Amino acid sequence: MKRKDKEIKEIKKFRKKFYDDHANDYDNGWWNGENALEEFEGFKKFVKIKPGDIILDIGTGTGTFLIEMAKMGAICYGIDQSPKMLEKLRIKVKQEGIEKNIEKISEGTAENLPYPDGIFNWVVCIGMIEYYPLEYAKAVLLEINRVLMPDGHCFIDIPNPNNPYTQERDWIFSYNLEKFEKMTKSLEFKISARNKAGFMLQYLLFK
Ligand SMILES: C[S@@+](CC[C@H](N)C(=O)[O-])C[C@H]1O[C@@H](n2cnc3c(N)ncnc32)[C@H](O)[C@@H]1O
Repeated sequence: MKRKDKEIKEIKKFRKKFYDDHANDYDNGWWNGENALEEFEGFKKFVKIKPGDIILDIGTGTGTFLIEMAKMGAICYGIDQSPKMLEKLRIKVKQEGIEKNIEKISEGTAENLPYPDGIFNWVVCIGMIEYYPLEYAKAVLLEINRVLMPDGHCFIDIPNPNNPYTQERDWIFSYNLEKFEKMTKSLEFKISARNKAGFMLQYLLFK
């Protein structure tokens, strides 16, 4: 486990610098990606926010999804370890005029969430878990479970291990799906739906 901890620490450090360095061009790159529309449609199909819902976006980045949820009337919290990505998000929040729906944007990491137990209706984590081994995904899901309300929902994505895009990229962790789903169930999540979106698999989980 010590070796895994060291590996995870190194990935976090690498990704922090990577996203700080790429914050300026992140949004253009994302929307030009071949998966973007499918991912966005999957998100819209599954994440049914009611006005006033309290939501958390982990690895929120420049806030592509956080801003959508704010526009749906959610009270939003976002967390990300890259200060430069969060700078971009703060600018977009002002441009969109949605300040009243943004409760708190924090710099921090996914396995150690700075929120009390049971306060969120929804937690989403999009485009982040794929950089990490399954052990980290488990630590993040454990934290998500802690901060979700008893009837809360979670929307996450992981790479589809059967897609060639995933197989060709050695920085993407490709989980054994049986193991991944067994792990989520061991944390007492129910899998409500799965959706293929490009090379990603989107999951809707209920507590
Ligand atoms: C591919 S971007 C996704 C951003 C946003 N969720 C989206 O879909 O547009 C990955 C984001 O995860 C953040 N990140 C990576 N590892 C993290 C960690 N361990 N804890 C918190 N944020 C992390 C990065 O800084 C980056 O902003």
